[in-house]
Amino acid sequence: MPSGSLIEARGLVKSYRRAERSLPVLRGVDLSVSAGEFLAIMGPSGSGKSTLLHILGCLDSPSEGRYVLDGRDVTQLSDRALSRIRARHIGFVFQTFNLIPSLTLQENIALPFAYADLGDDFQARVQRSMAQVGLAERRDHLPSALSGGEMQRAAIARALAVGPKLILADEPTGNLDAGTTRDILNLFASMHAGGATIIVVTHDRDVAAAARRCILLTDGVLSGA
Ligand SMILES: Nc1ncnc2c1ncn2[C@@H]1O[C@H](COP(=O)(O)OP(=O)(O)OP(=O)(O)O)[C@@H](O)[C@H]1O
Ligand SMILES: [Mg+2]
Repeated sequence: MPSGSLIEARGLVKSYRRAERSLPVLRGVDLSVSAGEFLAIMGPSGSGKSTLLHILGCLDSPSEGRYVLDGRDVTQLSDRALSRIRARHIGFVFQTFNLIPSLTLQENIALPFAYADLGDDFQARVQRSMAQVGLAERRDHLPSALSGGEMQRAAIARALAVGPKLILADEPTGNLDAGTTRDILNLFASMHAGGATIIVVTHDRDVAAAARRCILLTDGVLSGA
């Protein structure tokens, strides 16, 4: 494995069963991502982008192939072991924000710590990550009191709070207007400048242009990797 490589995926295949048939969604994906890279993945709807991101984020396992994350082969790990890796090392940002409506912002942002067991200083980290996205004043608000852009900033604060090695974002600006998209891009740029490794799935050319490298997934096969 090249030094500094955070992700080494080889021959990833993912198939789903549908009506007694096996439907291949990823058909042999090879991908290397260095620590500190900012990578965009584009491709048509249904090409397997979210499926790939879920495997890279240890939310799902490949049907075939090998996935080495930060020097550790995670291909065959149990769900429990995968969830431990997720909680400590990976931050997720989704198109629909996925905030819990009955929890305040700071409670939402503190949630990953319940899974990660990262010690007592987590409140300080929660406050710091809320300040980073400009939401410190809104800590006691419920998500319903926020605009879409603010909700996405809160979701980013949640992804950042544990200090993950890897940030994965699936269409993070899909529900936002152009101005708010720029705010989110600025946040990604500053996370990248701070050393984070970021992989973003997007249909938005401006978002892809902000990344240093862009690869295309078509019918479960990557090009430009
Ligand atoms: N859990 C599942 N069970 C069965 N089929 C699935 C499952 N998840 C995804 N698929 C199928 O796999 C294919 C790829 O889905 P995926 O969500 O990865 O595409 P995508 O590139 O993210 O598309 P979009 O741009 O619309 O989000 C689709 O045909 C989808 O229906
Ligand atoms: Mg998708």
